[in-house]
Amino acid sequence: MVCRKLGLRGTATDGVLTARRKDECRAALEQAGLASARYAPAETEETGYPVILKPPSGADRLLSYVVGRATEAAACCQGMLTGLDAVPSQWHEQFRRGILVEEYLVGTLVSVELGSREGEFFPFAVSGRFRWAEDEVGELGSYIPAHLPEEQAAICVAYAVDVCRAIDLDLGVFHLEIMVTDRGPVLVEGNP
Ligand SMILES: Nc1ncnc2c1ncn2[C@@H]1O[C@H](COP(=O)(O)OP(=O)(O)OP(=O)(O)O)[C@@H](O)[C@H]1O
Ligand SMILES: [Mg+2]
Repeated sequence: MVCRKLGLRGTATDGVLTARRKDECRAALEQAGLASARYAPAETEETGYPVILKPPSGADRLLSYVVGRATEAAACCQGMLTGLDAVPSQWHEQFRRGILVEEYLVGTLVSVELGSREGEFFPFAVSGRFRWAEDEVGELGSYIPAHLPEEQAAICVAYAVDVCRAIDLDLGVFHLEIMVTDRGPVLVEGNP
């Protein structure tokens, strides 16, 4: 926003805003014909269990839950609606945008780190990410490079570039969290 206002070079503002709305990001992936996870706002639809419940503009895994069955969903939603005390106060506004329900993706979690400039993409690394076995939204750390076969790493990078193009992450350094599933890489979230 500041770059746009001052006429400075920066990542396309709409790209950043799309990435920071996880539901809008998934809509953009669908529009571009790219792999994504089924998703819905909590009040409209069920996608079948297990699901991930998360704030659409969440960060730092706060108030995100893996929900195995319908009977657990109400308590998690309650936790999300009443748990703002656990969130830094400057983030409260962005944590009040409802609840996003996402298909629970099964696979190996990695991230692709890359830069882009003038239509060119510069892949830096595919990183591996440890998750806590008892709560898969909990990430414990990362390592570089991910232990992926070379061909699979290349497929992840190509998908990450497609995602950046689809949501207009046109200038900057980006960190895309991706699940390597049986149907190929699927975005978890894109961070501008
Ligand atoms: N659809 C999904 N399927 C499976 N696991 C998921 C899904 N969405 C999120 N997760 C897990 O939960 C973690 C946190 O989700 P996400 O990255 O969307 O939230 P975040 O609050 O932006 O986290 P952070 O800021 O730490 O990256 C992911 O790293 C992943 O381990
Ligand atoms: Mg994340």
